[in-house]
Amino acid sequence: MTAHQDHRDSRLGRTVRDAVGKFDEYRTFLTSAVHNPRMMGAATPTSPAVAAVVSQVVPTTGEPVVVELGPGTGSLSDGIHRRLPPGARHLGVELGAELATHLRRNKPWLEVVNGDAGELTALLADRGVERVDAVISSIPWSLIDDAGQRRILDQAVEVLVPHGAFTALTYLPASRSVGGKRFRELLGGTFDEVLTSVTWLNAPPILHYICRRPLRPQEKP
Ligand SMILES: C[S@@+](CC[C@H](N)C(=O)[O-])C[C@H]1O[C@@H](n2cnc3c(N)ncnc32)[C@H](O)[C@@H]1O
Repeated sequence: MTAHQDHRDSRLGRTVRDAVGKFDEYRTFLTSAVHNPRMMGAATPTSPAVAAVVSQVVPTTGEPVVVELGPGTGSLSDGIHRRLPPGARHLGVELGAELATHLRRNKPWLEVVNGDAGELTALLADRGVERVDAVISSIPWSLIDDAGQRRILDQAVEVLVPHGAFTALTYLPASRSVGGKRFRELLGGTFDEVLTSVTWLNAPPILHYICRRPLRPQEKP
């Protein structure tokens, strides 16, 4: 075999491995969505364009701790991981057991926690984490009831360092639903700064919330 054939075969092998990996990711995601549509709130993983937006809040210096709520099959995780400096910790709290198994198999650098974001502080304390520099959430906020939204958000704020960032995302149409509007109001009453942006390169488009400076109880409206 010539060097040229050898190179072509290894490229072909990589392409086939990538295609098999993508197929496995979509199959795992769709299986979870069919079995538990309210937990997933989506039929397919978000696009790389979405990952590029959320990963901007990830600190690139020091030894930061970043927590993903609802990493699913890890479509945001690679972009987050690429920005993290050595010594950082990257944890993913995922409710779906099959998804957590998929993540452990495919993202060995991610500390996968198979649990409920509603138990965030206890789950992190079990792993020796008390302070977090960024919380990146992609759980289906608009499908969660009022008490559930408050419970998860309160815990995220409790672990966030004062200059830390909290991000959430929702399908643009879902942001106009009852649960979506309630969540937007909750963010406004929780953070001093709530920035929004839209990623159009996703089907359907994604609305991002990027929040900083949690309000103290006496500052809340
Ligand atoms: C819309 S998918 C997002 C998956 C992935 N991050 C993406 O961007 O494609 C929502 C994910 O949140 C997870 N999830 C839903 N409720 C959760 C909860 N209370 N705690 C942890 N994960 C949760 C689901 O299992 C699912 O993986």
